[in-house]
Amino acid sequence: MSPTRRFLDPLVTYLLLLLLRVLRPVCAGPWDLSTFRLCNTLYLQEIDSNASGVTYVPESNTLWIVVNNPPGLYEYTMEGALQRKINLWWLRDPEDVVYVSRDRVAVVEEPPGGGIRVLDVSRSGGGMQTEYISLIYYPRSGGSGAEGLSYDPQSGTFYVAQEKRPKGVYAIRRTRWYTNCTKIIDGDVAFNSVGDLSAINYIPDLNEFFVLSQESSRVLRTTLEGQVLQEIGVKGSSAEGLHMMSDGLTMLVVSEPNVMRIYRADGCGNK
Ligand SMILES: *[C@@H]1O[C@H](CO)[C@@H](O)[C@H](O)[C@H]1NC(C)=O
Ligand SMILES: *[C@@H]1O[C@H](CO)[C@@H](O)[C@H](O)[C@H]1NC(C)=O
Repeated sequence: MSPTRRFLDPLVTYLLLLLLRVLRPVCAGPWDLSTFRLCNTLYLQEIDSNASGVTYVPESNTLWIVVNNPPGLYEYTMEGALQRKINLWWLRDPEDVVYVSRDRVAVVEEPPGGGIRVLDVSRSGGGMQTEYISLIYYPRSGGSGAEGLSYDPQSGTFYVAQEKRPKGVYAIRRTRWYTNCTKIIDGDVAFNSVGDLSAINYIPDLNEFFVLSQESSRVLRTTLEGQVLQEIGVKGSSAEGLHMMSDGLTMLVVSEPNVMRIYRADGCGNK
């Protein structure tokens, strides 16, 4: 073998491998934001305006959508048929909703003095409060407060997204003696590519977040420390609610006044 061949062979092999790598088709795996496409747009006729959050209930295969003004919860099928409405006039500006356990969802209230309220949404419960976590020490400023809410059932931790001035993510856990409210992400630094935060989803399988920005119409996938891993633009303005289905293949985005958009990672033909 000539010295030139000896040098070239490994180089050619290397370049070929590199080319194969580039040409290899990307698998539409779950959670990969780059593969999500808008498949369906539903208009929720029974909601006049102000739809502000969405969560999925596995037991009934339905969704709860929270309306902040006038405050209420609406239960819909995945096809957008209304099942139930609970009037919650006594809530103060509930900006998001999250499934906690069977018959229990939690909402977060935005204004000062608001908190996280766990509600009994069984037929007999009718939205009655079963737990209240005060957020009096939670920082708010000039009209912007807690906008997004998520929950990790394993650790019992709520995650709250602060809209702006400053943007932030807080981990909130009630112990027997006190409520631990710790800022875990400085959103002004970590999420400087978006104008505000309007919803957050904690994904136990990944130990990561998906975060929605209403002003920037974007969804970010991030680590718990706030490192942005992926981003995708979403359609329409005023996107207030986000829910990633646990299979990682379906993403629901709810926008004011009453629109729900369904994105899928594996093509629109699949259900
Ligand atoms: C939606 O909320 C805004 C202010 O938050 C309010 O002015 C408006 O009346 C609400 N929409 C309905 C249908 O109540
Ligand atoms: C409060 O919560 C933070 C974030 O979850 C955690 O790191 C910290 O150890 C907790 N502090 C106490 C005193 O429990």
